Amino acid sequence: MNHLDPIRHVRGESQYLDDVPVQHGTLYAAVVESPLAHGRLLAIDATAALALPGVVRVLTAADIPGTNQIGGIVPDEPLLAEGHVHFRGQPVALVLAESEHAAHAALALVRVEVEPLPIITDPRVAAAAGELLVPPRTFQIGDSGAAWAGCTHVFAGVAESGGQEHLYIETQGAYAFPTEMGGVRIISSTQGPTAVQRHTAHVLGLGMHQVEVDVTRLGGGFGGKEDQATPWGALAALGAFVTRRPVKLALDRMADLRMTGKRHPYSSDFKIGLDAELKIVAYEVTFYQNGGAAADLSPAVLERTLFHCTNAYFIPNVTATAYSCRTNLPPNTAFRGFGGPQGMFVMESALACAAEALGLETAELQRRNLLREGDLFPYRQPAEMCHAEQAWDTAAAKFDLPGRRREVAAFNEAHRWQKKGLALMPICFGISFTKTAMNQARALVHIYTDGSVGVSTGAVEMGQGVNTKIAQVAARTLGIPLHRIKVESTNTTRVANTSPSAASATADLNGKATELACLALRERLLRLAATELRMDYEGLHIEHEQVLAAGKPADTNWEKLVSAAYWQRVSLSENAHYATPDLHFDATTNQGHPFAYHVYGTALTTVRVDCRRGTYVVEAVELAHDFGQSLHQQIDRGQIEGGVVQGIGWMTMEDLAYNTEGRLLSNSLNSYKIPDLYAAPATLAVHFLDTPGHPLAVLRSKAVGEPPLMYGLGTYFALRAAVRAFQRHTPLPFSAPMTPEKVLVSLYPEFVGPRETVAVAATRG
Ligand code: MTE
Ligand code: HPA
Ligand code: MOS
Repeated sequence: MNHLDPIRHVRGESQYLDDVPVQHGTLYAAVVESPLAHGRLLAIDATAALALPGVVRVLTAADIPGTNQIGGIVPDEPLLAEGHVHFRGQPVALVLAESEHAAHAALALVRVEVEPLPIITDPRVAAAAGELLVPPRTFQIGDSGAAWAGCTHVFAGVAESGGQEHLYIETQGAYAFPTEMGGVRIISSTQGPTAVQRHTAHVLGLGMHQVEVDVTRLGGGFGGKEDQATPWGALAALGAFVTRRPVKLALDRMADLRMTGKRHPYSSDFKIGLDAELKIVAYEVTFYQNGGAAADLSPAVLERTLFHCTNAYFIPNVTATAYSCRTNLPPNTAFRGFGGPQGMFVMESALACAAEALGLETAELQRRNLLREGDLFPYRQPAEMCHAEQAWDTAAAKFDLPGRRREVAAFNEAHRWQKKGLALMPICFGISFTKTAMNQARALVHIYTDGSVGVSTGAVEMGQGVNTKIAQVAARTLGIPLHRIKVESTNTTRVANTSPSAASATADLNGKATELACLALRERLLRLAATELRMDYEGLHIEHEQVLAAGKPADTNWEKLVSAAYWQRVSLSENAHYATPDLHFDATTNQGHPFAYHVYGTALTTVRVDCRRGTYVVEAVELAHDFGQSLHQQIDRGQIEGGVVQGIGWMTMEDLAYNTEGRLLSNSLNSYKIPDLYAAPATLAVHFLDTPGHPLAVLRSKAVGEPPLMYGLGTYFALRAAVRAFQRHTPLPFSAPMTPEKVLVSLYPEFVGPRETVAVAATRG
């Protein structure tokens, strides 16, 4: 069964925002940015810009008819700056012009006067100054304080992980049209159509029913368009509302890099205690999240860091505290894994720290402490249908871990200037929005009188293949072929009050709603067939468009049945609602059952370092992953491959740098490098674990979007192992990304003074 999209993609037929035919009278918008990272906004003077031919309007906060506020969780984010500016690139004004060229030419002519205020870019400095976006959170189980006394080994350290740019191929943008009665219709490149609708209505002082948002597909989102598509949709809508003309706003790449938030950098302290059998007895961790200038999704990301702070391990005594720190950077936001990877990086660093000190393979500690059935997570949900050990053991056997170890050792023995490193990376990721209420979805299914079917849900296609999966669910449930199904655009007037397409839960939530709608339609049609054929309803099925009675073809088929239903005035449409059952979480005690289920897997990573240059290649990532009963192995394999490579990028080469003035230094694709084909592992082997899936996964096909990113952490630890094979006792701070510069510095500590090492680390925001 083919993925629905690739054929259209390779023929250039897929419609993205920029493929929407431009309507007559369209104005082009460009955004004036704050020139400083923090200050009092004294004046905006647009006189010179307005004198430029083609420039129609320059809008500021004063032109907003409703409320100048787009904060998703905390109302701390104005759409256009008012009174103060809090980060470089913060939208200050909106230029509207007859051409894109005129709009951009006008930007430099808008004078923005700002009185500077002190700038903070470091989360620990922010925390010390009391600059927190929300109060700190602590997850606790057992009594770590009391447990240290019983530990044979205790280790402590610091771990730092950097930010990450989403680099969706399609930059942020929206196209807004004025509609009758003062409303707007917005075509938006967003993962959250309802978020764009809600905030736009608020900004314009309209009811949500006056704002329609439509999404065909995104050229990638990766979390960067969960909340951060909203400003561009709302700004385009503001322009359309004020001028009563269509307004198109699309950020160019460098503006997108400057103005939008990214994965949160974290700086963390850990302490880990083991008993004589190397079981982890206690773990204490403090996370300092670099939240940027407004809360955005940071509190939810912070919470998921805590949920995943013990990764795939059972630890009886845990105290984990997290601070969401306000800095003068663009508000950081959702990014594949949603804080989970940052939490897991610290856990893996703690294990590597202990193993290196004890002279053991980290894998020894990892394997011994994997979760088992019934073990409690620090938030008190038990691990159920737990495949952590199965995934590890299968990966170790399937990819010959002992053999790989021997190869690496033999290679390192034989080569002076090349060293290999090996690491295992088990993962465990919880599936559900951690905010319980968000775990709901709806589907609207129409059967047309010719037997073709239109399906609308809240799911946004962003390359992850959710439309194909939803079509598969409809086709399987109705017993008809895939070509009969069309998955419609995601539109707020057809399916309302949607959760964003995020948390890897899109196919589960919207697929389950689709399944419910199709089950209701199938039952309705088969009851009609039972009456017409004078047969028992219980024995009837539809397969390949044929109605079967007790497994044998009956005297009717899909088309006839649909037609009969219409003429008998039986409804051929159904609207279904799905809410994940049995979820609960108490955010005051930080206990409950927040996840429908967990996804497990283990990856084995082999790298080779060129010890003269500090450069390296990822030779192989070989993994066993728990897909359950995969609906579509090609799509799921694609998600693994993309996730692994994106994770490797975060851990190795994506070096996001802001200076102390809050200016993005890695501000183009010349200075910010993401993995290309040459950086991808030469071997990327995916073994589909034999697991039953989970009843709360759509047709038992488990969520796959985010978990594989975390396999990328293995590359960091494999590189550490390779460096240690060259320089056993070199100082090696836990600091990602492990760029070739850092590798080189750690290979030759005698040539690089400690100050320079610090300088390399300090450029990270
Ligand atoms: N895959 C592609 N090709 N493009 C994307 O933008 N986003 C990722 C992941 N895989 C993304 C992707 C993220 S962050 C999430 S949460 C999930 O897909 C969202 O889709 P799902 O819920 O259908 O898995
Ligand atoms: N994951 C991803 N996105 C989210 C979540 C989550 O748990 N909660 C709110 N948005
Ligand atoms: Mo994904 S970070 O939940 O959009």
